[in-house]
Amino acid sequence: MVEHDLAKVGVEGSSPFSRSILPLYFRALARIGREDRQEIRLRSVNPQQRVLSGMRPTGRLHLGHYHGVLKNWLALQHTYECFFFAADWHALTTHYDEPGQLGQHTHDMVIDWLAAGVDPAAAKLFIQSQVPEHAELHLLLSMITPLGWLERVPTYKDQQEKLKEKDLATYGFLGYPLLQSADILVYRAGLVPVGADQVAHVEITREIARRFNHLYGREAGFGQRVDAAIGKLGKKSAQLYVDNRRAWQEKGDQLAHDSARALVQTGSLSAADKEHLFGDLDGSGKIILPEPQALLTPASKMAGLDGQKMSKSYGNTITLREEPEVVQTRIRKMPTDPARVRRTDPGDPDKCPVWAWHEAYSGTEVKSWVQQGCRSAGIGCIECKQPVVDAINAELAPIRERAQHFAGHPELVRSILDQGRDAARMAAQATLVEVRQAMGLAYR
Ligand code: TRP
Ligand code: SF4
Repeated sequence: MVEHDLAKVGVEGSSPFSRSILPLYFRALARIGREDRQEIRLRSVNPQQRVLSGMRPTGRLHLGHYHGVLKNWLALQHTYECFFFAADWHALTTHYDEPGQLGQHTHDMVIDWLAAGVDPAAAKLFIQSQVPEHAELHLLLSMITPLGWLERVPTYKDQQEKLKEKDLATYGFLGYPLLQSADILVYRAGLVPVGADQVAHVEITREIARRFNHLYGREAGFGQRVDAAIGKLGKKSAQLYVDNRRAWQEKGDQLAHDSARALVQTGSLSAADKEHLFGDLDGSGKIILPEPQALLTPASKMAGLDGQKMSKSYGNTITLREEPEVVQTRIRKMPTDPARVRRTDPGDPDKCPVWAWHEAYSGTEVKSWVQQGCRSAGIGCIECKQPVVDAINAELAPIRERAQHFAGHPELVRSILDQGRDAARMAAQATLVEVRQAMGLAYR
């Protein structure tokens, strides 16, 4: 399973650390497969390589979440500094008229994260609405976000079409990708594990970060480039430039500014060097909000019980806390190749939704037993399904047990979330200090 996932993981975007980060990620994934977590934990964490991901609270999670999202989180959590949060404000952007279940859904989802093996000692787990810094950054970024950018995000029109029964002509819904940008940028996360449907949101985040830095900061390594350009002015002019720059920057001496510009203009510098020095005189600083990359989560191999995508709204799921007997009944009730009306009719696994489950859960031996037995009517469908039932139950047994433990100790879950919130707020506040300052809001 893990080996299979590896081939499908891809990275969107082109920030400079894509090449250096990925091997680490692959190795982490492979190691988790070998249950070699301790070693990963000891690896030092590069704070530049923060991972952030959010999940909308929709209640109890199912096998689709487990194989799609959670296993990825497990692979990442001991290699990077991870922030995983319940996106309850995001849920309200579409379901603002049904607040009643938000608390229960969030609680159930977090229990399932923990049950699946998300480790609160490694990753920071928290609830979005308990970190108000997300909202503050969202507000500040809204000042510089062109309306057209939000209107053009593909999910804007798609979701409005899909959720026709809701009135989504709201300010909050339009701003939802920007809220997601704030979620990411408030931690200056470098990597954002998301499904394909969310890649556009990471893309707009990159654009917003770029715009912010353009307005309020300067590119990385700028200082060195400026120094190098000054060096090329020649000793005398270089000294003059530095003196004039100081007079301009410290006292606002316009004449000094103009002389410094003239020195650059008439000096024999390359166009790039001139540009750096003009930027040095007229711009401010640095990258305040780094551009994140999407870490594309491989599409889950888990089809639902009916062969469609597994989704709560289709009622075709197996949840992580499902009892063994329920798993048994639900798999037994699964539709099979419609050509196999009688036990003696041969079938074709390619036309049977059960085959996808064998692909996910069975080894080569069982799979060839299915192929042969089905096509020759040598096995019955109930018989064919049993190895799947057993494999799911084996997978779910420890998860169910941990879920029971956490469900029975809500105070434990609460304290995990409190700690996650405190750690998240510390990181978020550090970003906001810089953002406020960049936007002229650092009053003394
Ligand atoms: N929008 C995501 C979803 O619907 C959830 C989400 C919110 C998220 N904020 C995020 C994912 C930040 C990654 C990063 O699935
Ligand atoms: Fe499907 Fe297995 Fe029955 Fe063939 S034998 S139709 S693969 S359930």
